[in-house]
Amino acid sequence: MTVHFIGAGPGAADLLTLRGRDLIAACPVCLYAGSLVPEAVLEHCQPGTRIINTAPMDLDAIIAEIADAHAAGQDVARLHSGDLSLWSAMGEQLRRLKALEIPFSVTPGVPSFAAAAASLGQELTLPGQSQSLVLTRTQGRASSMPERETLANFGATGATLALHLSIGNLAKVVEELTPHYGAECPVAVVFRASWPDERVLRATLATVQAQLDPDISRTALILVGPAIGGEDFAESRLYAADYDRRYRPQSAQSPWSEWRHGDD
Ligand SMILES: C[S@@+](CC[C@H](N)C(=O)[O-])C[C@H]1O[C@@H](n2cnc3c(N)ncnc32)[C@H](O)[C@@H]1O
Repeated sequence: MTVHFIGAGPGAADLLTLRGRDLIAACPVCLYAGSLVPEAVLEHCQPGTRIINTAPMDLDAIIAEIADAHAAGQDVARLHSGDLSLWSAMGEQLRRLKALEIPFSVTPGVPSFAAAAASLGQELTLPGQSQSLVLTRTQGRASSMPERETLANFGATGATLALHLSIGNLAKVVEELTPHYGAECPVAVVFRASWPDERVLRATLATVQAQLDPDISRTALILVGPAIGGEDFAESRLYAADYDRRYRPQSAQSPWSEWRHGDD
């Protein structure tokens, strides 16, 4: 018996890995985080699967369900939205499973920041503008922020920021980031990326609060940084015609000219 933790993706039912789909279909028990996991993903469950929405349950109750399945020798598909490495509460479940000696596996999913970037049709790391992406959040009711993980500290780097779980703190985001990025810095808010009712707002730090529809109060990502803006960035060297590289040596004198596939 194994508990398969599966990243269910950002919303669209077909943004699920083939491995995740097949595991869902193979497990007689499916626990899913109903606040964000789309019901359409559950269509991969076989008829007769015991399907449980864990949104109203506490950790003890979730582990009790898993322990019951373990006692019955039944595999469990455990679904969380996006990818499991980010704000999934998988860590505390794994710790309990290890203590109970219940085997588990982890199958990654498409994270919401990647879906939001796809909705924007943008790369988040652009030459000369940003070469780093910070995945972070602001303080919420459920989790406090470590002391040094402040917007000011991240903002001081000028990196692209992907702010999760923070749409309700937009005023604080604007106030703390404006000194670092400037009022004209581009901002995008992507609400329910990849869902049928997805919405995208493009603004600046100066305008985003006034432009945001007040109905958008959850399931949104705030992306901030120069890379969110226009087309004014340098081309990378990777595809430059004169760039000497392993796959495209520029002369017989190139250090790469002797290299053959398989010599890596
Ligand atoms: C509990 S976290 C889960 C993150 C998830 N594990 C991931 O990989 O993206 C929930 C937050 O992720 C963001 N989020 C999740 N799905 C989203 C989507 N489809 N569109 C925009 N933001 C989303 C929102 O900021 C939301 O408040």
